[in-house]
Amino acid sequence: MNEIVVLDHPVIKHKLTILRDKNTGTNEFRQLIKEITVMLAYEATKDLPVEEIEVETPMTKTIGYRLSGKKLGIIPILRAGLGMVDGLLEVFPAARVGHIGMYRDEETLKPVDYYCKLPKDSSERDMLVIDPMLATGGSASDAISKLKEIGCGSIRLLNIIAAPEGIKKIQQDHPDVSIYVSQLDEKLNDDGYILPGLGDAGDRLFGTK
Ligand code: PRP
Ligand code: URA
Repeated sequence: MNEIVVLDHPVIKHKLTILRDKNTGTNEFRQLIKEITVMLAYEATKDLPVEEIEVETPMTKTIGYRLSGKKLGIIPILRAGLGMVDGLLEVFPAARVGHIGMYRDEETLKPVDYYCKLPKDSSERDMLVIDPMLATGGSASDAISKLKEIGCGSIRLLNIIAAPEGIKKIQQDHPDVSIYVSQLDEKLNDDGYILPGLGDAGDRLFGTK
């Protein structure tokens, strides 16, 4: 069954409150998404394997560590997932980035697929799917299915805000995928928006409304 990790940290609470504020402008919004993503990235990769290596400090030789597991793939769901890419690359600069393009049909709330470009060796990588919002869960579930279709076995999902409905959908469709969220919100409204949420993440990130 999925591991669901909700970050419970005063710094996240503080940053999230500014992120939610409707008066927060695009520039600050983008910066906050990045900062929270860095914290999510650390939490979601706590269990990566390491191996011991010798390192010589200016004082003495000692044992250090380096990451030893599979290479990582960062998979933003377009558009809003793009806002989280820089935060992840700050922690894992060597990761490859694949893009999955999806938008929600406003009437049906079902995801519509329009783009997919993934690293060639995707099936050999640990995949981190990123999207600020997990609402009905339809977009994330379809994106994860796409990765599974090409043989990806290790997939984690990282969201800034999730609704209970979205968590339930991922649990049902992908019980093997762990979910890391900085905040679990109350519910969806009738239009499929998260309450209290932060509004439309893509529009706020890119200033399109
Ligand atoms: C938003 C968000 C997710 C999706 C979540 O994208 O970034 O991808 O909605 O909703 P769901 O969990 O109900 O599928 P949107 O469709 O608004 O596209 P955009 O990122 O291009 O603005
Ligand atoms: N997509 C968003 O950007 N915000 C929501 O609240 C739900 C879906």
